[in-house]
Amino acid sequence: MEVIEKAPAKINLCLDVLHKRDDGYHEMEMVMTSVDLADRIVLKTIEENQIVIHSNNGFLPLDQRNHAYKAAKLFKDTYHIEKGVDITIEKNIPIAAGLAGGSSDAAATLRGLNRLWQLNLSNDELALIGEKIGSDVPYCIYGGTAYATGRGEKIQQIDAIPQCWVVLVKPKKGISTWTVFENLSFEQITHPETENMLTAIQENDYSQMVENTGNALEPISAVKQPDIKRIKRKMLQFGADAALMSGSGPTIYALCKKYSKAQRVYNGLKGFCNEVYLVRTLK
Ligand code: C5P
Repeated sequence: MEVIEKAPAKINLCLDVLHKRDDGYHEMEMVMTSVDLADRIVLKTIEENQIVIHSNNGFLPLDQRNHAYKAAKLFKDTYHIEKGVDITIEKNIPIAAGLAGGSSDAAATLRGLNRLWQLNLSNDELALIGEKIGSDVPYCIYGGTAYATGRGEKIQQIDAIPQCWVVLVKPKKGISTWTVFENLSFEQITHPETENMLTAIQENDYSQMVENTGNALEPISAVKQPDIKRIKRKMLQFGADAALMSGSGPTIYALCKKYSKAQRVYNGLKGFCNEVYLVRTLK
């Protein structure tokens, strides 16, 4: 038997960093939503008690550094499962991009193993395993639109955002989340109006939503990656309703209500960057 799970990418509509905690992590407040750019995870039981990973992407580590591997290992250890699993990751989400691709693969692996080995665990139980892998994994278990606090692992699901088109642009060089947080100085930060964002979503108000997008980490990542500012400027020139960095970057996304505008942004940026995607938000 085999189980197939979709692992969608996420974007941050708001990302705020409140303070540094004693455990070294940062206290966050975020609003995120899933988009229909997804990896595809195929899971099969194997006789040998091993975790075997394959991928179409040669840059992805296939050992214990891989998030899906970590997820399978934790799942097997937690529930004392002696069987092995073969995991194929069809990678479509850019790596080290701020789109939670690795976290989404881990979450899809946990959901998939729950089905494959019929453990009947709730999403809340899977999220508890997920948070040991990374701060974004619990969100990826639930997907959709969510308000996240703590180090990002405390999830409250909220209404879907007003449907729109999303153009994603990934600059060539990735950024590690760790580096961005290491370089964070609170004087540089502009805090987004998360409260306004939550109200806009609750009222299904697209124009208020685009007006209140904001990412406190953007100025820090933009120092490392000057392309971020250039891409943002181009997106707005081509008519995007909003342009923002996702997560710790370096991916920039544009929001467009109209498909014709999204196509203009897509075509305009395509000549400038290799990795450009035109997708929809997911409900
Ligand atoms: O949780 P995750 O493993 O994805 O985080 C990667 C790194 O990002 C952490 O080791 C930490 O340096 C930083 N981080 C942080 N505060 C958060 C989330 C991540 O400082 N809320």
